[in-house]
Amino acid sequence: MKKGLFISIEGLDGSGKTSCILKIKEHFEKIGHQVVVLREPGGTPIGEKVRDILLDAKNTEMTDVAEMLLYASSRAQLFSQIIKPTLESGIIVICDRFIDSSVAYQGYGRGIAIDDVLAVNLTAIQNTLPDITLFIDIDPKTSLNRRFSVSETDRLENEKIQFHQRVYEGYLALCQRFTKRIKRIDGNGSIDHIYELMMIEINQCIEKE
Ligand code: TYD
Repeated sequence: MKKGLFISIEGLDGSGKTSCILKIKEHFEKIGHQVVVLREPGGTPIGEKVRDILLDAKNTEMTDVAEMLLYASSRAQLFSQIIKPTLESGIIVICDRFIDSSVAYQGYGRGIAIDDVLAVNLTAIQNTLPDITLFIDIDPKTSLNRRFSVSETDRLENEKIQFHQRVYEGYLALCQRFTKRIKRIDGNGSIDHIYELMMIEINQCIEKE
């Protein structure tokens, strides 16, 4: 690899993203690569502060556009401060959520024009899209059932089922729009199975590089 491979993982809350990311990291480390895992929103000192504002369940008055811009500013900071230099030094970067989360949640979910969300976020990431994005597909009902059974929920998770349904449909639309980059992964099996499906796509992407 000349430069680090850039992977982003997307999906509704409770889709198993975090467990799968750990397994992917372990795999690459075992075969001698360095891997950095980042989470959005957050991942930098400034980004973590923005994250607290975004997820605070008390911030009910936040406007949709303010929300969209806050996610984008956390992302801009993460990109310049961490992602760009890490990729340049040849390290693999795995992002738990990236630009497609904003298009799905703020665009399709909140109803902000998709191309506006894309434009703001492409500026934030200096037009550097991931080499591959894996969308773990679980339906919104399963997602909410899993989340509500685990721990306290945040501001976004407290949205109604209709919101999560729009986000989900947004992800499906993104899979169709960016067929080369975004791969849909069936998220209904065990973590091990989802991980195997993900590795097939990642290895295909590496072969093409
Ligand atoms: P988080 O606790 O990180 O959720 P998860 O572990 O499922 O990734 O909270 C992130 C929340 O923020 C999640 O509900 C999705 C939402 N989100 C957006 O609405 N837009 C974005 O651009 C990003 C990155 C996340």
